[in-house]
Amino acid sequence: MNALEPTPVPLPLTSQPILVVGATGAIGSQVVQALLVRGARVRVFVRSPEKVSTLPDDVERAVGTLEDREAIARALKGVRAAFYVSPHDAAEETLAGNFVSACEREGVRLVFSGVHAGGATRLSRFVQRTLFGLMMPHYKPKLRLAERVRTSRTSAVVLVPGNYYQMDEVCRDEVQAGRYPLPLGLVPRVDTRDVGEAAARALLDPALPSGDYSLVGPESLSGEQTAAHWSAALGHAVSFAPDLALTDALFERAYGGRKALDCQKSYRLVGKISVKTTPAQVAQTAFLLGRAPRTFAEYTHDTAAAWQAGNLAAEPQEAPRPVLAS
Ligand SMILES: NC(=O)c1ccc[n+]([C@@H]2O[C@H](COP(=O)([O-])OP(=O)(O)OC[C@H]3O[C@@H](n4cnc5c(N)ncnc54)[C@H](OP(=O)(O)O)[C@@H]3O)[C@@H](O)[C@H]2O)c1
Repeated sequence: MNALEPTPVPLPLTSQPILVVGATGAIGSQVVQALLVRGARVRVFVRSPEKVSTLPDDVERAVGTLEDREAIARALKGVRAAFYVSPHDAAEETLAGNFVSACEREGVRLVFSGVHAGGATRLSRFVQRTLFGLMMPHYKPKLRLAERVRTSRTSAVVLVPGNYYQMDEVCRDEVQAGRYPLPLGLVPRVDTRDVGEAAARALLDPALPSGDYSLVGPESLSGEQTAAHWSAALGHAVSFAPDLALTDALFERAYGGRKALDCQKSYRLVGKISVKTTPAQVAQTAFLLGRAPRTFAEYTHDTAAAWQAGNLAAEPQEAPRPVLAS
């Protein structure tokens, strides 16, 4: 099998659907794909059904918002497990509270992916959360809501992904022009396809113990290493040239709103930190995936190929030459 293809792990399937929140987003869309590859019955909870019109007809559409508790309760009816990702929203703690409480009432297992200060005990997590909150004050609501999930009565599985490889796609034009502008100190990173597959494993395997699981690639990456991978994949020099003002503008252009603001603030920290991926984190990821996590080299290889195919498709055809009368 091609190492880049999903590697489905045989797991008990169920006639009950799996509910996916955020199915139109970066992570939720990968979770849906991974579930479908594994033959699972899928129900998506979406605000705008037209955004999921390309999904197969047998994917159930539950329409509603996380503000609407009745819509959440309807969406959870008969569900075996639910995936939750916290939207970039000023009220994200309230929205998560609505969803977690509904899962508790319905007796549904919750699989969450997001920012979380992990640890085996409430005390160790409190200490981690306090330290993390000092570095990233605007992440305090994210940290609190993840702890709400972790301590909920939902047999919760909390997936804690590193920085997504796919974040680099905001600077596609710059990278293609030979410059990697996002500030990166040394950061654990992960492929969103692996996050989707790990979540699918957790959603489909009732025997998986609840708790925290790190999701990372095989090694942390610095800005210089990241640029070197892009050079190798694109076949031309890409230099690491961190630029906060440009980074801010790129996130504003790609996302706007609260998501841009969250990313802009995150990269102020991401540019300064030096955090090594540990063998234990890689082992947890591999355990969930049933294989080694995708490398950044695999991701840049796939992405460079997709970009080059897109560039070729977008190139204007040569106009037919006029036939000159002799
Ligand atoms: N970027 C990283 O490297 C990274 C790393 C670790 C963790 N995270 C965390 O991951 C989370 C973001 O995940 P993502 O990138 O998958 O998000 P995303 O691409 O912004 O997707 C958000 C999803 O939530 C849906 N949504 C938003 N508000 C909603 C509401 N009120 N009711 C129902 N659905 C709603 C959106 O639907 P619409 O299509 O209708 O808008 C969309 O499907 C954040 O909490 C972030 O902190 C990010």
